This record gives sequence, structure tokens and C-alpha cells, in this order.
Amino acid sequence: MKRFTGILTSVLLIFFTSISFGQGLLNSHHDFTGASWSGGEVCLPCHTPHNADMTVPDSPLWNHEVTSAGFQVYTSSTMNSTPGQPTGHSKLCLSCHDGTVAVDNHSGFTGGTQFVTWGNLTTDLRDDHPISFEYSTALATADGGLYDPATTPSGLGGSIADDLLQGGYMQCSSCHDVHIGRNTQGCVGCHNMATGVTISLSLWKSNDGSALCLTCHDK
Ligand code: HEC
Ligand code: HEC
Ligand code: HEC
Ligand code: HEC
Ligand code: HEC
Repeated sequence: MKRFTGILTSVLLIFFTSISFGQGLLNSHHDFTGASWSGGEVCLPCHTPHNADMTVPDSPLWNHEVTSAGFQVYTSSTMNSTPGQPTGHSKLCLSCHDGTVAVDNHSGFTGGTQFVTWGNLTTDLRDDHPISFEYSTALATADGGLYDPATTPSGLGGSIADDLLQGGYMQCSSCHDVHIGRNTQGCVGCHNMATGVTISLSLWKSNDGSALCLTCHDK
């Protein structure tokens, strides 16, 4: 086992160090340019300039098969809002991350064989932060432990509503930047080979000291 781990580490080391520094999406887990089914195009598995999929309203020229799964959603007796089925950007993310739709099902192709592995949230979202509900001034007032999204700065330049909500709604994209603008170093931006620590730079801002959580939660 120890020998296996050693070999694995060397293989990974070679893998990591042989990859030149990328920016944003490049050399992230959303960069499929190395896969034969992407045509070497970084945007194509998710976007197309023409004949986009309009199933999900307000989606950005979508080119990936959309999930049709039914989901179990987060509930709790202390929640003021009542999340329904995933909508908007969350539904786009879940079109790979619920594990029901193949990652390589894009541009109308539906016979894919590649599925998410460790990034599989499954269709049971009861153990995930609630998404797809309106986060309004009224909700903040009713809750008492949330900042007013219309007036509270997100730390990214505008208010929480401007920068983190999709038409006033909480979505996966309220916390994650799928294009990974914060990563300027490719693999090593997130994986520290010396310490073995992995962080997710796909978040809009660092969550050190729970900074991301404390952007919205007044705790
Ligand atoms: C793995 C899927 C994926 C890939 C690859 C991807 N995107 Fe996106 N993109 C999304 C999702 C999901 C959204 C909606 C969520 C958001 O805006 O963050 C989005 C939103 C956008 C938007 C509209 C919102 C905004 O940020 O302005 C633009 C423009 C965009 N993408 C451009 C691109 C370009 C250009 C590429 C290739 C360099 C690319 N994307 C690659 C998934 C992807
Ligand atoms: C085209 C398929 C696809 C779409 C669409 C997609 N992802 Fe992913 N994502 C992946 C794959 C593949 C991985 C690697 C993990 C795995 O294989 O299980 C990944 C990894 C991740 C990771 C962990 C690595 C990292 O960058 O920190 C996060 C977080 C993530 N995705 C969030 C999102 C969010 C949020 C959206 C929507 C805004 C989204 N993804 C849309 C395929 C996708
Ligand atoms: C409230 C903020 C928030 C929301 C909303 C959110 N995430 Fe995350 N997500 C995080 C944080 C923070 C991490 C990093 C966790 C860690 O490093 O322990 C993470 C990690 C991940 C990972 C990495 C693998 C894992 O399980 O740790 C994936 C994939 C992912 N999120 C996908 C999604 C998708 C898809 C959605 C929407 C259904 C979503 N996230 C909604 C904050 C959020
Ligand atoms: C934006 C951040 C980010 C980038 C960039 C990134 N990773 Fe990851 N990677 C993650 C996260 C988050 C995980 C999940 C770690 C966990 O949950 O323990 C992960 C997991 C992995 C795993 C373990 C998967 C498994 O099966 O358990 C490997 C291998 C890996 N990454 C390799 C790479 C390589 C190679 C690159 C560059 C091409 C890369 N990563 C770029 C965030 C990133
Ligand atoms: C973009 C804003 C935003 C961010 C960032 C955010 N949250 Fe939330 N969170 C909310 C909103 C809005 C609710 C719904 C509260 C309600 O309806 O009572 C919520 C709900 C929750 C709940 C459920 C509360 C209950 O009563 O069951 C928990 C726990 C939680 N968030 C923890 C976190 C943690 C931990 C983080 C950081 C990883 C985080 N949140 C990041 C906005 C956010």
C-alpha cells in the first residue's frame, strides 16, 4: 500500500508539474479540452453560439443535456424560505453534478459514458446548502440572521444581489464561479503538492475564516 501510494504520488507529481500554468477554466476540472469528445474546445461542452437549449429559462446559450431528474430538497424547521425543485443556474450545474446525465452529453449527443465521480451531489440535495429560492430584503428581515442582499456589499464590487444572486435567487452560482476566475495557477492553485491540501478556488471569494458564509449570514 505504501509503495502504491509512493507510485501514485510520483505519477501525480509528474502530472501536476508537466502542466503549464493555466488561467481560469484552463487546467481545472471543468477544462475538457483534453477529452476526445470536446473537440478540443473549452466552452463547447456547456455553451454554443447557435441552436442553444432553451429548456431552462435565463440560461447562457446552453449546450449540455439538461437533467430531468426529480430532487429531494433541503428543508428544516428553522428555514424561513421553502426551496422548490432546482431552477436556473443550479439546474445547469446539476446537469452534470446529479450524476444522472453524462458529462459528454453536449451538442445534442445523448449517448455519453463519462460521469462525475467525487463531484456527484446525487438527486438527494437534503444534505446540501439550500438553493433555488428567493433571497430578498423581506427574507433577511424575517430571518433576522441574514444581511439585506439589496444593500450589503458582496466584497466583489456590488451588492450581494448584484454579484451573487441570479434574478434575486440563491443558486449554485451564488457561491461557485464555474469559470474559476480566482485561479491563476492551474492545478497547483487548488492542490498544494507539498502539504497535500486541496482547496476549491471555484468559490467567488476565499472562505478562510468562513468569509464566504459571513457575506450573507449575520452570525
Ligand atoms: C462546465 C460548464 C461550463 C464551461 C466549460 C463554460 N461555462 Fe460559461 N457558464 C456555465 C454556467 C453554468 C453558467 C451560468 C452560471 C454563471 O453565470 O456563473 C455560465 C455562464 C456564462 C456566461 C454568462 C454569465 C457571465 O458570467 O457573463 C458567459 C458569457 C459564459 N458562461 C462564457 C463562457 C465561455 C466564453 C466559456 C469558455 C471559455 C465558458 N463559459 C465555459 C458553464 C460553463
Ligand atoms: C459539463 C459537465 C459539468 C457542468 C455543467 C458543471 N460541472 Fe462542475 N465538475 C464537472 C466535473 C467532471 C468535475 C470533476 C469532478 C468529478 O468528475 O466528479 C467538476 C468539478 C466541480 C467542482 C470541484 C472542483 C473545483 O473546481 O473546485 C466544483 C466546485 C464544481 N464542479 C461546481 C460546479 C458548478 C457550481 C456548476 C454550475 C455553475 C458546475 N460545476 C457545472 C462537470 C461539470
Ligand atoms: C452556500 C454556498 C454554496 C452553495 C450554494 C453551493 N456550494 Fe458547492 N461548495 C461550497 C463550498 C464552501 C465548497 C468547498 C467545501 C470544502 O472544501 O470542504 C463546495 C464544494 C463543492 C464541490 C466539490 C466536491 C465536494 O463535494 O466537496 C462540488 C462538486 C460542488 N460544491 C458543487 C455544487 C453544486 C452543483 C451546487 C448547487 C447544487 C453547489 N455546489 C452549491 C459552497 C457552496
Ligand atoms: C479550482 C480548483 C481545482 C483545480 C484548478 C484542480 N483541482 Fe483537482 N480537485 C479539486 C477539488 C476541490 C478536489 C476534491 C478533493 C476532495 O474532495 O478531497 C479535487 C480532486 C482531484 C483529484 C482526486 C480525484 C479523486 O478521484 O479522488 C485529482 C487526481 C485531481 N484533483 C487532479 C487535478 C489535476 C491534475 C489538476 C490540473 C489539471 C487539478 N486537479 C486542478 C480542485 C481543483
Ligand atoms: C449568497 C448568500 C449566502 C451564502 C454565501 C451562504 N448562505 Fe447559507 N443561506 C443563505 C440564505 C438566504 C439561506 C436561507 C435562510 C432561510 O430561509 O431561513 C441560507 C441557509 C443556510 C442554512 C440553513 C438554515 C436553516 O435554518 O436550516 C445554513 C445552515 C447555512 N445557510 C449555512 C451556510 C454556510 C455554512 C455557508 C458558507 C459555506 C453559507 N451558508 C453561505 C444565504 C447564503
